[in-house]
Amino acid sequence: MSARDVLLEVAYLAASVLFILGLRSLTVPARARRGMQLAALGMLVAIVGTLLHHEIVRYEWILAGLAVGAVAGYPLGVYVPMTAMPQRIAISHMFGAVAATLVGVAEFWRLGQGARVGRVEMTALGFEVLFGALTVTGSFMAFGKLQELLPSRPVTFRGQNVVSLAVFATAAALFASLVLRPENPAAFYGMVALALVFGVALVLPIGGADMPVVISLLNSYAGLASAATGFAIGNDVLIIAGALDGASGFVLSVVMSRAMNRSFTNVLFGAFGAAPATAARSAAELSVRAITPQDAAIQLAWARLVIVVPGYGMAVAQAQHQVRELAALIERNGGTVLYAIHPVAGRMPGHMNVLLAEADVPYDRLKEMEEVNDEFEHADVALVIGANDVVNPAARTDRSSPIYGMPILDVDRARQVIVLKRSMSPGFAGIENELFYRENTAMLFGDAKQSLAKVIQEIKQG
Ligand code: TAP
Repeated sequence: MSARDVLLEVAYLAASVLFILGLRSLTVPARARRGMQLAALGMLVAIVGTLLHHEIVRYEWILAGLAVGAVAGYPLGVYVPMTAMPQRIAISHMFGAVAATLVGVAEFWRLGQGARVGRVEMTALGFEVLFGALTVTGSFMAFGKLQELLPSRPVTFRGQNVVSLAVFATAAALFASLVLRPENPAAFYGMVALALVFGVALVLPIGGADMPVVISLLNSYAGLASAATGFAIGNDVLIIAGALDGASGFVLSVVMSRAMNRSFTNVLFGAFGAAPATAARSAAELSVRAITPQDAAIQLAWARLVIVVPGYGMAVAQAQHQVRELAALIERNGGTVLYAIHPVAGRMPGHMNVLLAEADVPYDRLKEMEEVNDEFEHADVALVIGANDVVNPAARTDRSSPIYGMPILDVDRARQVIVLKRSMSPGFAGIENELFYRENTAMLFGDAKQSLAKVIQEIKQG
């Protein structure tokens, strides 16, 4: 082994360790930032290490790729708002999957269109292009739905599942035939084409509300494709990074599905998030109690225990700094403020944690759902800021509701509930929320950031 090869292996080992430490740090909010830095450093070490590879004889294309990647990546990282993060992640997965698929196709082509590919290598190559290609189009569809370039509702037709399964089964059969006889370019490219079609067929019938689960599932496919690429081209760091990516994406999908009390099959084939299932109630039948910022200030200023329930609307309004400021005022008056975090509040895992951390809310005030639910009955005020589905009591009681069975934050058990939102529009699941009509609920209508600013002003003015 030459000195250069030793250096390469050391770089790959260091990168793998950094990836694992990075993931480990992400499990604790206080260390999450450091986790990202470690993982990014790991990626840099892996890239620099790869540049030492003895098979690389010319650097022009690599440098061009680095330049294009940096030019495209910087604005994606810096300018895309937090609320658009799910679709940004979807498009990043698409790029990763395009890379894995192209490497697979190039490798097949380089080895005499399969003529010099062994069976084991063909198995790895097959996985790589199959999962890579379906992730390319699947992620693109998920991006389109979240960005509202495509209809966010499930797009379905009769016999759709049968057609999708037939496409996948044919691709899998071509894969099996290739393992037996790799020298068959028609089967190889046919398999790639069918996998691309399957990615579209897989995601189109799924509603926009389920896209985050789909994205993290596609993430695990992209991880699998990268690991397979690693086997195909004999690259250890790709195998390790791909396996980490695949496993963490899969675990995340399971955690998210569980938090919504949904099975994978239900997410993938259940067409959740379909047409809004708004209950047919007339406005006359139910009435809501709207309050002013001044009313809210009176209730909040001297409350002993306030539980803040942030949701997607807080992210839209970017109200996290006002939330923190209001909490400081309540605490100055001797009250306690806790933050109830639902696992699927917002549009991506950890969405609320990230925003509150940005506003320097102490981590020990952030309470997980199981931990905080017993506290609501002691709370003077549950302050719901742009949350809707995650506080909908229908999840507990209404068997016909699409969110029935989803664990929710029991805000209705608090003495008073103040809900900050702009209108009576439903949340992402598209269903009405009976909480808003309850006797102990008051609605403070308006943009959450502006409403909070007014409440803060009222409290300050005494
Ligand atoms: P949602 O149920 O989506 O409700 C958000 C509410 O925020 C809306 O009712 C909206 O009402 C309000 N809002 C929007 N902009 C606002 C603004 N500027 N100021 C004040 N309010 C504003 O949010 P949630 O309770 O966080 O639930 C999350 C949903 O996403 C769940 O259905 C969950 O299953 C789904 N989901 C989440 C994830 C992850 S990982 N987080 C994954 C999959 C699915 P107005 O328009 O009236 O203001």
